[in-house]
Amino acid sequence: MSSIDYSQKIPNNVNLGDDRTLQRALEQWQPNFLSWWEDMGPEGSQGFDVYLRTAVSVDPQGWAQFGYVKMPEYRWGIFLNPGDANRKIHFGDHLGEAAWTEVPGEYRANLRRIIVTQGDTEPASVEQQRHLGLTAPSLYDLRNLFQVNVEEGRHLWAMVYLLHRHFGRDGREEAEALLERRSGEQDNPRILQAFNEKTPDWLAFFMFTYFTDRDGKFQLCALAESAFDPLARTTKFMLTEEAHHMFVGESGVSRVIQRTCQVMNELKTDDPHKLRAAGVVDLPTLQRYLNFHYSVTIDLFGADESSNAATFYSTGLKGRFEEGKRQDDHRLRGQSYSVLGVKEGALVEREVPMLNALNEVLRDDFIKDSIAGIERWNKVIEKAGLPHRLKAPHKAFHRNIGSLAGVKVSPEGQVVSEAEWNARVDEWLPSAADRDFVASLMGRVVEPGRFAGWIAPPVMGINRQPVDFEYVRFN
Ligand SMILES: [Fe+2]
Ligand SMILES: [Fe+2]
Repeated sequence: MSSIDYSQKIPNNVNLGDDRTLQRALEQWQPNFLSWWEDMGPEGSQGFDVYLRTAVSVDPQGWAQFGYVKMPEYRWGIFLNPGDANRKIHFGDHLGEAAWTEVPGEYRANLRRIIVTQGDTEPASVEQQRHLGLTAPSLYDLRNLFQVNVEEGRHLWAMVYLLHRHFGRDGREEAEALLERRSGEQDNPRILQAFNEKTPDWLAFFMFTYFTDRDGKFQLCALAESAFDPLARTTKFMLTEEAHHMFVGESGVSRVIQRTCQVMNELKTDDPHKLRAAGVVDLPTLQRYLNFHYSVTIDLFGADESSNAATFYSTGLKGRFEEGKRQDDHRLRGQSYSVLGVKEGALVEREVPMLNALNEVLRDDFIKDSIAGIERWNKVIEKAGLPHRLKAPHKAFHRNIGSLAGVKVSPEGQVVSEAEWNARVDEWLPSAADRDFVASLMGRVVEPGRFAGWIAPPVMGINRQPVDFEYVRFN
């Protein structure tokens, strides 16, 4: 077995070098991670020098060190935000007790499940995005894709560290299984459905990083409140990286809109056929992509009524978004929350116990945050002097989880018959023809400073480098 100096090889602030058992476990896992990266990481990219940021510590200077690196040699580090030895549990039945530095036996199974579910999404998104490098619209975008990919790899390391450090043998088995499941694979798929969908083109990638990485933000925020302190500290640090992923999505979609509006003004038309012929994504197609990614992502929050959600909260495993800023008793017994259901073919609100509705509470927080960004996209259209507006579809649209699954609802929130749904679904969700068209725009642009015709250049480069910087060297 190799004797790697882990304190050198894996940047960390958890004293890896002092724990022989942990070190041995990670030494066994690491080659499997690298072979997973080789098989399922970004296609055909192993030899490229990529201008990436690497975290070498959690302080402001250390967490974003930029330089060229070949991705298989990326230093996937393990970082926990600094701890507070006096930290108290601030919600649930254990409110006021000291936070846990070790896993309480009675919560072991639930905590493991939470960590595995989060951990599973990280390699899944790398798998979903692995072909996109072949059709990058610019070197700048290619670099951003790779940055997101290596950081999702680091997030996997973060969860695997917890499994190895705190869950003994089952933890090691779960860490192996995280490298064995495959996005979209029939026999051994990823745990959550949105992570088994394809990310076939760059518009899908930008929508995914805007919406689905934002689901990541809300899940991580809820876990950052956890009574299990190592989980809280790990997820807090992951959030610093997540911000860039959502930036890639928001600015990516924004640049697509900007380019489309420019061509709409040049040609003085909003006719999708003419715009497509001119090589840009018409706004109705963009809206359908938005509808798809939004609806698939809000399913990720789980069933609107869930006894697991209540248990996770009451036992202190998972808090609410910004738990610490909320002005209530942080126990929530006897309180209620309004969720949407279906009665005699119509959408109706009903009150359910708040504790059981915590998935819905988190989903509603996510929805608010998502809509704010859609409004920023609308500003781009408005600035171009055009009347079109993008809109989040109704919460009940295209849902597959909870009490809204199985009812057909239009993006405006009208319950529709199966026949009407089938007749109109191509107005509401990307059709095969839409996807073929978007795919037809995808072509690789690799000359520094050049951009594909369907997307505007960014306002500025990465880490104050110019937009025409050589972000990736192909060697
Ligand atoms: Fe992540
Ligand atoms: Fe992410």
